[in-house]
Order: sequence, then structure tokens, then C-alpha cells
Amino acid sequence: MTETQFTPRVFSGIQPSGNLHLGNYLGALKRFVDMQQPDMETIYCMVDLHAITVWQDPKELAHSTRELCAGFIAAGLDPEKSILFNQSQVPEHAQLAWIFNCVARMGWMQRMTQWKDKAGKNQQNASLGLFAYPSLMAADILIYHATHVPVGDDQKQHLELTRDIAIKFNHDYGVDFFPITEPVIEGAATRVMSLRDGSKKMSKSDPSDMSRINMTDDADTIAKKIRKAKTDPEALPSELDGLDERPEARNLVNIYAALSDQTAEQVLTEFGGKQFGEFKPMLAELAVSKLSPISSEMARLMGEEAEIDRILAKGAEKARAIATPILQQTYEIVGMVGAKQG
Ligand code: TRP
Repeated sequence: MTETQFTPRVFSGIQPSGNLHLGNYLGALKRFVDMQQPDMETIYCMVDLHAITVWQDPKELAHSTRELCAGFIAAGLDPEKSILFNQSQVPEHAQLAWIFNCVARMGWMQRMTQWKDKAGKNQQNASLGLFAYPSLMAADILIYHATHVPVGDDQKQHLELTRDIAIKFNHDYGVDFFPITEPVIEGAATRVMSLRDGSKKMSKSDPSDMSRINMTDDADTIAKKIRKAKTDPEALPSELDGLDERPEARNLVNIYAALSDQTAEQVLTEFGGKQFGEFKPMLAELAVSKLSPISSEMARLMGEEAEIDRILAKGAEKARAIATPILQQTYEIVGMVGAKQG
């Protein structure tokens, strides 16, 4: 079996923990929508099992999962074209993760920078699930034989680990069963940074709400956050290299570019020489015009909880149709008695 036998299939996941913000939209959702093409099978998952590797209040977890689903749909993902579901409804993810826990080595996991960052100095007190997180992520991807995985730059190491697991599994069992997945890494140009500090990624865990634009913010809040965004006293340059050493200015230009589907160069051609006092209101107007239809659609969907649950259940059913035979074949390869091909 060669790699080319795997049909192109996109998989990605987002954790339903906390609110969706502009960074998730431009860095993930918008790219997911772009990949929703007729010749690509696209599978997008709300990874609730990953979320509980750190404590989640049950009610809030359920709310965030539905809100994320509403955000996916409002951003343009079509449940008829993409498979949308929450991870826990497809038990094959956790089942394959167990096999991978027996393939991955302790040393590989200990090297993961996200583990080191999140567990910090208190590793003894971190959950076992947080340590095994990347093995479940590998299972998410490989249970579908996914070939392309769009993620942020911070997930690159986890995708390398996914490749290592696939290679070791194929090697240990003498098969060519799991594909070697291609990461589709988001470029620095599309990474959305904090509005308060251009060197930090926009994040739902930043204590300052002014650092991010939430997808549920209303027009006045969006405008206020952009008006107050940290900048420098210089005018905008007309060339890209004029943004070197100006992370906050670069961030706002990148956001403008991403929201208007232009390159940063094109934005500077238009705005070079202008002060932030002039640029910020234009950016605010653009952001409100792009985001408010999404947030109002999210709010509408959140009023129809049963509809969201139905979409997730339907998506899970479609996902299982792919995942079940792959798990059965895996079990058979590993030597589990009773595993019949579906
Ligand atoms: N770890 C990813 C993140 O925090 C989320 C995730 C879980 C994921 N499983 C995945 C992303 C599989 C891509 C593919 O962003």
C-alpha cells in the first residue's frame, strides 16, 4: 500500500473550552471553510475529550460545545458538506488512542512543549490525560486516515508526533496502514496576536478581555477594543518591511488583510502614510461588518439547541461510518480476537 492510496481527507479539531475569538475565526474556522471543496472530504471535530484534560465545569462544557458548533456553522461550514461532530460521540477516537498509548514512548511525550508549558512545575499534579493528550490527537486524525490537518503553528509538534506514531505502528506491525499526515500550518501572517501585546497570541485564557475580540462581542465592544488596541505613534508604512519591530502595527494590518481577503502589502498600499487615528475606525468598521452576521447567526442557532444536537448526532453517525472499519482493521492488525472487518 502506498501513501497515494489514501484519498484526500481533511481533519481538524478545536477544544470547546471558553469563547470563540477572532484568532480562532481567522486562524482556524475561516481556513476550514476554505478547505470545504467538492474534491475534499472535510471532517471538523469539537474535541470535548481533550477539553477535560484540565477541569471543565460540566454545564459550561456542554454550552461551549454547542456554541462552538454554532460558530462553525455561522462561519460557513455546511453540515451537508462537512462532517461536524463532537469527539465523545465517536468512541473509536478513545479506543484508538489506547492502542497509540501503547505505541508512543514516554520520552516522546515528555518532550512535548505544550505538556511542559501546561503542566509547568507541577507535573505531579497534572492529569494523566493531559500527558496523553497528543496520543488522543493522533487518534483523532488517524482514525479517519486523514491526509491533511490544518492547525496553528503551536500544534506542529503534535503533528510530528502523529507522524512518529503512524510510522512506528506501521513498522512494528509490518503494515502500511496509517498515512503519514501532512500538516497545513497557518503562516505567521495569519496568526492573530493579542490586542494588548503584539508578541503574544490572541487567547481565550488571557486575563484581559481587551486583548481579544470575542465572536459574541457586539459592534460597540468590537469598536472599543480596536480603538484601545495598543499601537505605536508612527504612521503606517507603505512597505511590509516597515512593520519589522512593530508587532502591534503588524497585527492590526494582518487582521485588516485577513478580514478583507487581501495581502498585508495590498493593505499598506492603501493605508501607507496614514495614522492609526484614521486606520483604526476603518478596521473597526470592517471587523463589525464581517463579524456581526456571524455572531447574530450564532445567537440564533444557540436558541435552537435541539437543532444543534441533531446536527452533531448526524455528524457523529457519518464519522462513525468511516471510523468503525478503520478501528476494526487496527484491532485485527494488533491481534485482538473478535475484531471482524466491517
Ligand atoms: N490540540 C488542538 C489544539 O489545541 C486541538 C485538536 C485536538 C486537534 N485534536 C486534533 C487539531 C486533531 C487537529 C487535529 O488546537
